[in-house]
Amino acid sequence: MKKITIAIDGHSSTGKSTLAKQLAKTLNYIYIDTGAMYRAVTLFAMQQGFITSDTFDADQLVANLNHVFLSFKFNEDLGFAEIYLNDENVEDKIRSIEVSNFVSKIAEVSAIRTKLVQQQKKYGIDKGVVMDGRDIGTVVFPDAELKIFMTASAEIRAERRYLELQEKSPNITFDEVLKNVVERDKIDSTREDSPLIVAENAVMIDNSNLTKEEQFNLILDLAHKAI
Ligand code: C5P
Repeated sequence: MKKITIAIDGHSSTGKSTLAKQLAKTLNYIYIDTGAMYRAVTLFAMQQGFITSDTFDADQLVANLNHVFLSFKFNEDLGFAEIYLNDENVEDKIRSIEVSNFVSKIAEVSAIRTKLVQQQKKYGIDKGVVMDGRDIGTVVFPDAELKIFMTASAEIRAERRYLELQEKSPNITFDEVLKNVVERDKIDSTREDSPLIVAENAVMIDNSNLTKEEQFNLILDLAHKAI
């Protein structure tokens, strides 16, 4: 059967990765979480001390990018590929609020984007890939056969993320999460390099009032039509 490329972009915490994982599993495609790649570079910058409480040394990080090796390894039990930073599984560490609070500033740096986009394009060479992020339909795979743009109200997105984060960070407040979601969207949508915009031919899905199942069936149907 013909294989296609599926690009899923959209605002923060719209459930892109849950949906993309499910879609990849059903179609027997590979799934790549590009947000995890930007998060892993952010974690690297933190570990190396390039990030202090509210600033970071972009030049130093860029000069050390050749020490950042990112890879994905499929976890049979979880059913998706987890991200490794220099051979360490960092899937959990990259989801902290500290990383979330800084990642969009790291993602503004063009040299970082160039490195990651190059790697992302390679994953799509044979098609049969579902990739989610902010610039997949516009920059990474502008020729993707199916492009989805996901959004939902900021409050609903923050509420979902807040519930998700509570296990890992019990002290986190809803307002903190809402602030992070709104700020990330603002930086992501207004940056100069590869801003978050709706790609040409993308299907826009506002999932504020859709159940996960309704949304999944809608997108699976679009995928079948595109294959
Ligand atoms: O998808 P996730 O919310 O984990 O992404 C974290 C951040 O990484 C985003 O807020 C954005 O700043 C950045 N990002 C990006 N381009 C992508 C994927 C993520 O700039 N393709």
